[in-house]
Amino acid sequence: MKALILSGGKGTRLRPLTYTGAKQLVPVANKPILWYGIEAIVAAGIKSIGIIISPETGTEVREITGSGERFGAEITYILQESPAGLAHAVKVARPFLGNDPFLMYLGDNLIEKDLTPFLSNFQAKNLDALILLRSVSNPRAFGVAEVDKNGKVLQLVEKPQVPPSNLALIGIYFFSSAIQKAIDSIKPSPRGELEITDAIAALIYQSKSVEAKKLDGWWLDTGKKDDLLEANRIILDTHLEEKIEGEVDSESQVIGRVKIGKGTKLVNCTIRGPVVIGNNCYIENCFIGPYTSIADKVTLEGGDFEHSVVLEGAKLIGIEQRIVDSVIGRRAQLTVASRLPKALRFMIGDDSQIELGGG
Ligand code: G1P
Repeated sequence: MKALILSGGKGTRLRPLTYTGAKQLVPVANKPILWYGIEAIVAAGIKSIGIIISPETGTEVREITGSGERFGAEITYILQESPAGLAHAVKVARPFLGNDPFLMYLGDNLIEKDLTPFLSNFQAKNLDALILLRSVSNPRAFGVAEVDKNGKVLQLVEKPQVPPSNLALIGIYFFSSAIQKAIDSIKPSPRGELEITDAIAALIYQSKSVEAKKLDGWWLDTGKKDDLLEANRIILDTHLEEKIEGEVDSESQVIGRVKIGKGTKLVNCTIRGPVVIGNNCYIENCFIGPYTSIADKVTLEGGDFEHSVVLEGAKLIGIEQRIVDSVIGRRAQLTVASRLPKALRFMIGDDSQIELGGG
């Protein structure tokens, strides 16, 4: 059994963060989203992992994630030259996959539950495909399945105008090598991509065994800002281990589950967990409230932060209003100027969103 993780794509919904990096590398609780997927796959006992990368962000994905040693896995990077679809990615991965069955995992997904029972089910029943589904309120945005009461998949449609159900494909699939032939039988979709949904529909048409399981527990598709903040909240709530390695001065108070990295200095701060703060940060006169993740090398001087994600190297100095529900990009700077005229001065990246509080 192998695994294939897809980590290409443009991440348009997470702009501007994704102008300078892969969406799968955006951190949740200070760890790249992609790594949670790798860990879940390794926990299910799969050690041979292929990662599909794109020419735009592949080098960064490879440099940050490495050979797989840190996960106890062996990672092979596979370049997909153009974003021609999920089924196209499987085609490109043929030399890596050979005739082995594999688990396919979209690299920006986060799930709560263990993958092992699904893998056991797929293997025990000798299926050609097992797909994971979840009820959603907006099925038009997904691949959608119609399933009979025994879990047999009757129909699959990608981004349907009139959805046959509200059960969406969540981006985790188990396949036998039969999927390769099915992929060879499909044509590009209206959006110009070879859709894995169409390839699975072709398997059903060929009377192969295709079953579905509903996923319980949380599932987060971290494609947008609010999803990212929600993922951050849930991971901090469920996974954060308390550990204080940095320096906390006697004026500071640390309450609840808090992790503070090496070389970080806190001066006269109140931190109320769950909060994670990375390495080599300088934080002075701040209140940092629940569900906040602060990456490495961040400087915060004065201010009140809650339910927010601050990425590497950002500097926020002297902001008197509370900052909530925010994602601050790498090396972004927010400061209060002392010079006149008293005014707001901006240099804001493309597609940024700024909401100034009144009063
Ligand atoms: C892809 C799949 C779709 C699936 C979704 C899950 O959509 O094509 O079937 O429901 O991932 O996130 P995309 O993200 O390419 O629009």
